[in-house]
Amino acid sequence: MKKLLVANWKMNPSSEAEAVRLAKASDERGVVVCPPFTFLSQVKNALKTADLGAQDVFWENPIPGGAFTGEVSISMLKKIGVSHVIIGHSERRKHLIESDEMVNKKLRTALAFDLKVILCVGESLSVRKEGIPAAKSFVKKQLARDLVGIENLKTQLKNLVVTYEPIWAISAGLGTGHPDKPEDAVEMIKFIRELLTKPYWPNPKVIYGGSVTSSNVARIFEYHEIEGALVGGASLKAEEFKKIIRITSQVK
Ligand code: PGA
Repeated sequence: MKKLLVANWKMNPSSEAEAVRLAKASDERGVVVCPPFTFLSQVKNALKTADLGAQDVFWENPIPGGAFTGEVSISMLKKIGVSHVIIGHSERRKHLIESDEMVNKKLRTALAFDLKVILCVGESLSVRKEGIPAAKSFVKKQLARDLVGIENLKTQLKNLVVTYEPIWAISAGLGTGHPDKPEDAVEMIKFIRELLTKPYWPNPKVIYGGSVTSSNVARIFEYHEIEGALVGGASLKAEEFKKIIRITSQVK
């Protein structure tokens, strides 16, 4: 597949059997399946070609371990076959009060230890209501804070994917369920790519997230600048996600 599809299961599904069933339905090259921690091993065993991602990781990575109650380290994730990690999702920023500084520490440690990072950035509805220039200004500042110091990680930058995920476009929770218009999303994505290209690396990978479904994915991927999608709700329905994979794999 030319495009990257990241399946963010969030705090789902409710059983191991369902996790395994979903994993098998999502098992395509170019897909990264991100279950909750409790199903990582079972999903790993079910996957033959898709990659395995975690939804978060801690910023300290002492080996063999450390006094960090409730946290999971990069080494622990890698040991069970995790290759990717989502960092800075808006739900964590909001509900867990995850700051840009925390996001930055996680991102730098994950990259330094060779995990592939899917960083999420995006503005709230109130910012977007002020218009695209306000959204650009918000994302520019957020990215600058999240990426402090990454110029020192040059060789690992190929492992960083930035997801433009406007918070309001998410299908549940903090979102409205309305996807961004592809023409607006692509404008933001081009802007993000420009911001990253000069100071950081030549070919930054930038994808879109927010209410991606089988009905809109073809339209979104008409833009070659949108190099993939982070899919939440629609990745929890096996048939729907298979459709998304099928449509995506036809993109030239
Ligand atoms: P959604 O979620 O596809 O359900 O909008 C995307 C996400 O929040 O990762």
